[in-house]
Amino acid sequence: MSLVYLNGQYMPPEEAKISPMDRGFLFGDGIYEVVPAYHGKMLGFDAHVARMRDGLAAIEIELDYSGDTWREICDTLISKNPGPNQGIYLHVSRGTDSKRNHAYPQGVKPTVFAFCFELPGEPTNDESTATSYQVSLEQDRRWQRCNIKSTALLGNVMHYQTGARAGNKETILFNAKDEITEASSSNVFIVKDGIISTPPLDNQILPGITRWLILQIVHSHSELKIQERVISKEELLNADEVWITSATKEVGPVVKVDEKVIGEGKPGPMWQRVQTLFTAHKFDY
Ligand code: PDD
Repeated sequence: MSLVYLNGQYMPPEEAKISPMDRGFLFGDGIYEVVPAYHGKMLGFDAHVARMRDGLAAIEIELDYSGDTWREICDTLISKNPGPNQGIYLHVSRGTDSKRNHAYPQGVKPTVFAFCFELPGEPTNDESTATSYQVSLEQDRRWQRCNIKSTALLGNVMHYQTGARAGNKETILFNAKDEITEASSSNVFIVKDGIISTPPLDNQILPGITRWLILQIVHSHSELKIQERVISKEELLNADEVWITSATKEVGPVVKVDEKVIGEGKPGPMWQRVQTLFTAHKFDY
């Protein structure tokens, strides 16, 4: 039987209840994380907790959960839910107020909710079985604080839906200057002439943990070249390889952007190299 965590207790999902006056429900006023776990081992756990802390501080939610508390919650959920590979969703909202008021209320206890979902499997570096992605491309219409992993995801959901409507599994976004930001639920990388590039961290993108892991791993292999720099829409469309990265995808090779085939229309050699290194070193950090 699967169990979820709500405010200090584990229970079947149907017993987990929160008030409709919760600010997470009314305003999307909260922060979340998604941590992958393979055979019980979590990937990038400390980095995920650190990013959640940064997000909570940015929106002034005070929560007295230590890293050990989060780890215990995650380990318990992993052990009480089926499947060898799981994603753990962690969610903190500002809590339940007695009235709907835009101002942050005082003395309200945050709502903490967590559950596991089964991952289809561990991403592979085998080109013949790897999931490759066809994606859409459109202008980023989200807010200017995309570095905060807010539960208010309507902008991302609408962008994802553009792709889904076209039969695609992601939508890559560019800003008003035709510069690539990220995708609706992933970061973006390109490869051109052997050089890997990804947009720099700023308010337009989420500081992805997978992105960070890739940078750590690639930096420790001096034969590989990686740059954090502005990437234009044109460069993306003319790249040898395009990747989308996230906790659940790892390094996801993109083979088509709208009607434009990327490279040879299949996962490229640099993808294979980096996903292989990622598989070997992802638990080192
Ligand atoms: N999404 N950018 C956005 C907008 C995201 O939502 C995500 C992750 C990423 C990649 O971050 P990370 O490598 O830390 O997963 C980038 C998660 C998985 C989600 O919303 O389900």
